[in-house]
Amino acid sequence: MTDSSSGQIDHVLIEDRLFPPPAEFSQQAVFSSQAQYESMYRRAAEQPEEFWRSEALEHLHWFEPFDEVCRWDPPHAEWFVHGKTNASYNCLDRHIDAGRGDRTAIIWEGEPGDERTLSYAELRSEVSKCAAGLKQLGISAGDVVSIYMPMTPELAIAMLACARIGAVHSVIFAGFSAESIADRNNDAGAKLVITADGLYRRGKVLPLKETVDEALAKSPTVEHCLVLRRVGNDDVSMTQPRDVWWHDVVDTQSDDFPAVPMDSEASLFILYTSGSTGKPKGIRHTTAGYNLWAKRTFEWVFDHREDDIFWCTADCGWITGHSYIVYGPLSAGATCLMYEGAPNFPAEDRFWELVEKYKVTILYTAPTAIRAFIKWGDEHVDKHDLSSLRLLGSVGEGINPEAWMWYHKKIGNERCPIVDTWWQTETGGIMMSPLPGITATKPGSCTRPLPGVVPVIVDETGNAVDDQHGGMLCISKPWPGMLRGIWGDEDRFVQQYWSTVPGKYLTGDNARKDSDGYYWIMGRIDDVINVSGHRLSTIEVESALCSHEAVCEAAVVGRPDELKGQAIAAFVTIRDREPDEALRQELLLHVRKQIGALAQPDDLRFTSTLPKTRSGKIMRRLLRDIASGNEVAGDTSTLEDLTVLAKLRDDEG
Ligand code: WTA
Repeated sequence: MTDSSSGQIDHVLIEDRLFPPPAEFSQQAVFSSQAQYESMYRRAAEQPEEFWRSEALEHLHWFEPFDEVCRWDPPHAEWFVHGKTNASYNCLDRHIDAGRGDRTAIIWEGEPGDERTLSYAELRSEVSKCAAGLKQLGISAGDVVSIYMPMTPELAIAMLACARIGAVHSVIFAGFSAESIADRNNDAGAKLVITADGLYRRGKVLPLKETVDEALAKSPTVEHCLVLRRVGNDDVSMTQPRDVWWHDVVDTQSDDFPAVPMDSEASLFILYTSGSTGKPKGIRHTTAGYNLWAKRTFEWVFDHREDDIFWCTADCGWITGHSYIVYGPLSAGATCLMYEGAPNFPAEDRFWELVEKYKVTILYTAPTAIRAFIKWGDEHVDKHDLSSLRLLGSVGEGINPEAWMWYHKKIGNERCPIVDTWWQTETGGIMMSPLPGITATKPGSCTRPLPGVVPVIVDETGNAVDDQHGGMLCISKPWPGMLRGIWGDEDRFVQQYWSTVPGKYLTGDNARKDSDGYYWIMGRIDDVINVSGHRLSTIEVESALCSHEAVCEAAVVGRPDELKGQAIAAFVTIRDREPDEALRQELLLHVRKQIGALAQPDDLRFTSTLPKTRSGKIMRRLLRDIASGNEVAGDTSTLEDLTVLAKLRDDEG
């Protein structure tokens, strides 16, 4: 333990299991030796210009060459200056030009079980038609288009059609309220909204168009609304001449709309993400750098091969869907599975049914889903043949070691490497991750940075902390996929990401580097608790709780305490046991044994669910309010239902 007045964070949980990559995996992998990674990492760090020049020339199509690799005027970076490319060209035409147009791009399954397959050539035809339709609706390069759609191929088609003509898409997750859509339309000055007549969710139809109508009443910049018929809902109201049907405006167009050469730094998209306070911010990504980053990180981390069927279970409403359903895999010429619906419809085995049916080889999902599967029970997994899988990925939150172990054993059958990928909406693509052919993994660690990523962990004064100590994770060098700004709010961009440690990008996460050079994300900076002068990371206490067999999920927060500064409050969901006082004591003792008396929660409450953001992250901020507001109820055996509270917080991203 260290002197915590230094601003470092104490690291208390020991995890020493190590899983080397299986030999048969390594033999055929993209990265097959540690030396190969080391030398690539060194080149990217020491000669970034040369490294990224050759990457960009090899991996993107250039209508006009760039004349400078990176212009870095902190905090502003421009990549591949003055070059002209097009992300839709890189995702589609490039493969067709190379004679690979017949390859399957997207295999799609709707929630009701309907299926569609699109080859690269077919996808380009659809994208071209949509691009021409957008043009007809008066959209041109630089205009913002909001997309509020179900996870249908048309969602990806709409994104790529925007890219094809240089319009800037702003995808809004189709669970957001009318208020949130209007806020985003107004902040971005959107000219068009693309939506559908409805969305299937657990067998029911959600009236998307109705929600959009409500938003449009408060979105003065929007001129048109393009509506896809997805559910056959004839009740939708179409306001003339504002609203038009996809089948009238898109399906009737010619299918050879050429991609428009776009400046490397032209905005490709905005994606709104909630900040720790206040209104959501529109993270702005640009064309060439983002596209290259999405493609290369996809190929490196997922060890992409010709015969892979890649399934990223995210929604395109989040950055994970942007980078690893659309831009990354399609630029790489991969075959992706895209699924529209819920993981537990019609039953809790839907994901495993899909893996078996489509022989998915790579599965990329989130800890929140993994913890739900654990709770639903192994029998749903056992019904299916998952032998096609060769690689598993995780993203979105820290994965507690026990959830990692379940994923490894139950889904990966102890033969599939797990890539725990750390990154953010702002970073555009994966920043730290195991490389599955070479990295020995440790449950709960995102291991090491990818080539081009130079992390540093600092204390509150901006000085680098020693290995083994936690501090604020920063990135010290620009990388191609980095955000270029917050839409319309330069001050917030500078203030939020670049002021704490001048010249370095502040991620907002805490992390620690161990003696092997592996990184461990310790949660958001706000999630550190200070107990009797010891600064602890809540995720370590949560992981200790999760290592008890009865615990499914745990969220730990601090609440003010006169004696200790902060006291530890834990919220726990359980399985296969009665939530009684005996179990409560058992769990407290368990943490004490795992970490020490210091980390033993002062309050421990059982709950049936934890409040989560719409992208599935536990909302510790809300739990902090609960923990400090009301005193712990005397009767600890009742399960609280915190979903109600989550529902109240509609706008969390
Ligand atoms: C968290 C998602 C630990 C982290 C791509 C980050 C993670 C935030 C991991 C970004 C991981 C994401 N381990 N924490 N593997 N992946 N996070 O913008 O706090 O939705 O800053 O991007 O999620 O979330 P976002």
